Amino acid sequence: MNTQNNTVNILFIGDIVGRGGRKTVKSAISRLKEELSLDLIIANAENSASGFGITLNVYKELLGFGIDICTSGNHIYDKKEIVGYLDNLDKLIRPANLPSKAPGKGFVVVEKKGVRFLIVNLLGRVFMPLSDCPFQTFEKILSEYPDCLPIVDFHGEATSEKNAFAYNFDGKALAVIGTHTHVQTNDDRLLPNGTFYITDAGMCGALDSCIGVVKENSIEKFLTSVPIKFDVEKKGKMLFNAVFFSIDTDTKKIVKFEKIYNICGE
Ligand SMILES: [Fe+2]
Ligand SMILES: [Fe+2]
Repeated sequence: MNTQNNTVNILFIGDIVGRGGRKTVKSAISRLKEELSLDLIIANAENSASGFGITLNVYKELLGFGIDICTSGNHIYDKKEIVGYLDNLDKLIRPANLPSKAPGKGFVVVEKKGVRFLIVNLLGRVFMPLSDCPFQTFEKILSEYPDCLPIVDFHGEATSEKNAFAYNFDGKALAVIGTHTHVQTNDDRLLPNGTFYITDAGMCGALDSCIGVVKENSIEKFLTSVPIKFDVEKKGKMLFNAVFFSIDTDTKKIVKFEKIYNICGE
């Protein structure tokens, strides 16, 4: 792929699930870093530690792969040990529309090739845990950072909510990228006013699984209604799901985008 010096090339990686997901991401980044001349790599890491949450060691491991910023979602506090560190980790964000006393921060500014990006994590409110209004929360953050290009990880279940959010901020956000369902959608496009949008970026984890979990665990839960421990699927082929987009450093407009759906491994 042709890449130019006057572009910032951005990769957003869908929810990384467990050790297998991390291994897949590591090899994908080492392959794509040069091929796509990547300048900024963002990844949703809410399931990166054994499928639930993130630990300090896993956070460091992900940064070691070349990931610049980790986003998260409803699983951010699953691993208790991360809670005490969150206020001091400048490359891991939690949903911005949690209560103000929630540990961690909901957005971060990062500069690449002279362009300042505002990366924001938000939680949907349909079929999700309680949170403040993501629309109002984002409006407030936007007003505080008028000089930045906003990239939103909208972590939600309902496609309608993600669509509505993206159209509401079309032309104000550089990109609105959905996460949480772990299933990549086929609707990546530029909205009428130029915002890049996809309802869900997908996941990095086992292909033959129920969104990363051993499929038999999930089937049993649905068949019996009895709560069951969910294990991360470690066997078989792995999925690498991400989206790539590129902006012109002069016009600040998106000049190229594509979704990435790779099946890797045995
Ligand atoms: Fe997830
Ligand atoms: Fe989630």
